[in-house]
Amino acid sequence: MKLTVNNLKDTEVVGRIIGRSLEKGSVLCLDGDLGVGKTALTQFIASELGVKEYITSPTFTIIKEYEGRLKLNHMDVYRIDSEEAMYDLGYDEYIYSEGATIIEWSHKIKGILPKERIDIKIERLSDTCRIMNISGNGENYEKIAEELKKYESTGN
Ligand SMILES: Nc1ncnc2c1ncn2[C@@H]1O[C@H](COP(=O)(O)OP(=O)(O)OP(=O)(O)O)[C@@H](O)[C@H]1O
Ligand SMILES: [Mg+2]
Repeated sequence: MKLTVNNLKDTEVVGRIIGRSLEKGSVLCLDGDLGVGKTALTQFIASELGVKEYITSPTFTIIKEYEGRLKLNHMDVYRIDSEEAMYDLGYDEYIYSEGATIIEWSHKIKGILPKERIDIKIERLSDTCRIMNISGNGENYEKIAEELKKYESTGN
């Protein structure tokens, strides 16, 4: 599905819907150009998950863990140049942990992403307007897509 968000406030609503629906073991992949809003969306999701800490892109540390209603593993794999390097950082343990995982620039590690996941590709239309292309596989994806369709049909 394609969702158009007109401003940061809309992105917040989408982030809250996703945050409410994420489950233990969920993997959410975010892609799109530099500055398109991957971390902004992550911040709203995290806030809905009850994360109190302020989230920034873990560009240098690659992976950061947060405590909330659910544990949140936030990854930014922009600087990763091999999938093996992810395993050295404990990638598997995070993906199959009690928490949910959000991966910015996920296409860089597409060969090791789990099949059951939610993919959001964000495109910039203007300063504040974005298109979110949402696809995925698995029960949690189906649930999130359903919730987002309800939101879309209310005229967002
Ligand atoms: N509708 C919108 N959704 C998300 N961000 C928006 C929107 N409109 C404006 N912005 C702004 O765009 C910027 C997005 O920056 P952000 O760090 O989230 O991008 P990013 O995709 O994570 O970049 P990077 O690839 O460097 O990690 C923020 O300054 C945010 O306020
Ligand atoms: Mg970012």
